Amino acid sequence: MPDPNGRFYVTTPIYYVNDQPHIGHAYTTILADVLARYHRLLGVPTHFLTGTDEHGQKVQQAANKRGVSPQEHVDTYVTRFTDLWAHLGITNDDFIRTTEPRHTEIVQKVLVELYARDEIYRAEYDGWYCVTCERFYTEKDLADGMCPEPGCHKPVEKITETNYFFRMSKYQDWLIQYIEEHPQFIQPDFRRNETLGFLRQPLTDLCISRPKTRMSWGIELPFDNDFVTYVWFDALLNYVSAIGYGADDARFEQWWPASMHLIGKDILTTHTVYWPTMLHAMGLAMPETIFAHGWWLVGRDKMSKSAGNVVDPMALAETYGIDAFRYFLMAEMVLGQDASFTLEGFVRRYNADLANDLGNLLSRVVRMTVSHFDAKIPPPGALATEEKHLQEITLAAVAGMRDAVVRMRVDQGLAGLAGAIREANRYLELRQPWSLAKQGPEARVLMGTTLYCAAETLRMVSGMLYPVMPEKMTSLRTVLGCADGEPDYTRLRHWGELAPGTPLQSMGPLFPRIQTEKPAGGESKPKTKSGATSGKKPSVQPEGTISYDTFSTLDLRVGCIEKAAPVEGADKLLCLQVRVGEETRQIVAGIAKSYAPSDLIGKQVIVVANLAPARIRGVESQGMLLAADAGDQLRLVTVESGAESGAKVR
Ligand code: ME8
Ligand code: MG
Repeated sequence: MPDPNGRFYVTTPIYYVNDQPHIGHAYTTILADVLARYHRLLGVPTHFLTGTDEHGQKVQQAANKRGVSPQEHVDTYVTRFTDLWAHLGITNDDFIRTTEPRHTEIVQKVLVELYARDEIYRAEYDGWYCVTCERFYTEKDLADGMCPEPGCHKPVEKITETNYFFRMSKYQDWLIQYIEEHPQFIQPDFRRNETLGFLRQPLTDLCISRPKTRMSWGIELPFDNDFVTYVWFDALLNYVSAIGYGADDARFEQWWPASMHLIGKDILTTHTVYWPTMLHAMGLAMPETIFAHGWWLVGRDKMSKSAGNVVDPMALAETYGIDAFRYFLMAEMVLGQDASFTLEGFVRRYNADLANDLGNLLSRVVRMTVSHFDAKIPPPGALATEEKHLQEITLAAVAGMRDAVVRMRVDQGLAGLAGAIREANRYLELRQPWSLAKQGPEARVLMGTTLYCAAETLRMVSGMLYPVMPEKMTSLRTVLGCADGEPDYTRLRHWGELAPGTPLQSMGPLFPRIQTEKPAGGESKPKTKSGATSGKKPSVQPEGTISYDTFSTLDLRVGCIEKAAPVEGADKLLCLQVRVGEETRQIVAGIAKSYAPSDLIGKQVIVVANLAPARIRGVESQGMLLAADAGDQLRLVTVESGAESGAKVR
């Protein structure tokens, strides 16, 4: 990333073919697409794999219900995924289906080898089975006698049967050590801790078969045709079967180990416990990073078919445009944390970042270049402080986006690019090129410089936004006359590549504003910076009011909680590590009765950053958090997504 081997192999989970694709599936796949496209833009050889998981009981049941064979069923349903990905501009290099011979043959080959080496054995098994999760649990795994999977909790059936087992337990110590020695292996950090927590319990062997009497839609065990392979043991192997493991060594060597397995947090255990131990038993190298992202919620609720709140990505993209949808998903989710989808939030971000800032900048530049420079990019004169400032911010945003991809903080990179666009609009306000038109030759040079600089910011930023909004940015770059093929980082990171004299192409508005029923806040008259709406002062100040100047002495900042731990001997206190911009503050807060430490990780809070440090119960506290009373509890004041850690609160 660009990884030490100079290549990038990224995967998504292979989705259950039976399910209606929704915004969650779209998210992981768009994220993988965005990462793949950024790596291509950076010149890194890239391979991007997605696909479908097509075996298992649920497929069999659904096929029976429709009165078709399971294979017919999956052949019909897989198109919902392939069509959606084509529609959303996904550039996967391969699409694997677990019913394809290139996969089933390799699964059987792996099984034969592991069985021959006694990594797999046959035994009588006694356990609890959850039909919904298709998983066995031991007595002590169960939660109040029900399936322990969060969000499932359905009744389980007791089952005694013969099965085949993979000797996973013997790799427990190896796995713990591997995870501890390779901090990049499981990301984000708190997910690594979750897996290590899971590994504190003794690991059992993994049941990798299902008797055909119960379930026959799977890959037959090559050494016992009364059984099929457990769907997870089958599915995980897609990551190697698709790139030629056991069939095409050269191709396999080219891409393995994977650079990045992207997954949702729901499938952390299968990917960070089953999969690494399977690979280890097979004698293969570990993937570099398994990255578990957070959950898309709808409002505050989990999206689920039964709640009827599943967001249909197809419909949204249809109404508001695919690129706007991709941009929203990437800008809105802090990778690793949950994010909330609301139509309001979508419209707000679209109108602010895309219609107002980006769309506006482009139309201003185009309009003035057309009317004053014969629709050709004017030559720039000497750059003064203002121009250099814009140049610096733009270059920093471009480099920042590249770093953000490496750090898996796409949202921060996009915020930086949006910042550069805002800066260019501010720069135009400052230079007022529209008023320079009739002021003689010197003013005309300055006007040309101004339009050139704004256009150059657009060229660079649009190139860096291309992986997220490929169609719209191609249109934008066509207007600017710089859409020669895919954008390339070696040209994007240099200021001044836009050739003066390039003719502009005409085009309609890039991001038409979405009209909401009531006029949006942004359309009301802008307030002055001090917050006063006019120069008039009220003659009488109500008692207890403070001046703006008094308020502005408070340095309030957005902070992100990175660690939380109890304070010994103080049951109300938690000791927090809060990242505020570049620095990390230790803050002692009296919130232990209201929050468990694990609930706090990743929360964005408001920090009083210029409070004199104090010692609380002997522990240094550098600042304070804002919280609201809620009965005998406290609720932390947080900030809607989009604000970066360190941002000023005013
Ligand atoms: O688990 N928010 O497939 P699956 C964000 N076949 N992402 C979400 C999401 C949400 N609300 N809901 C789903 C399986 N996802 C197995 C995988 S891999 C060898 C086998 C995304 O169809 C997220 O990536 O249930 C999650 O991990 C995945 O869909 C689960 O897809
Ligand atoms: Mg699932």
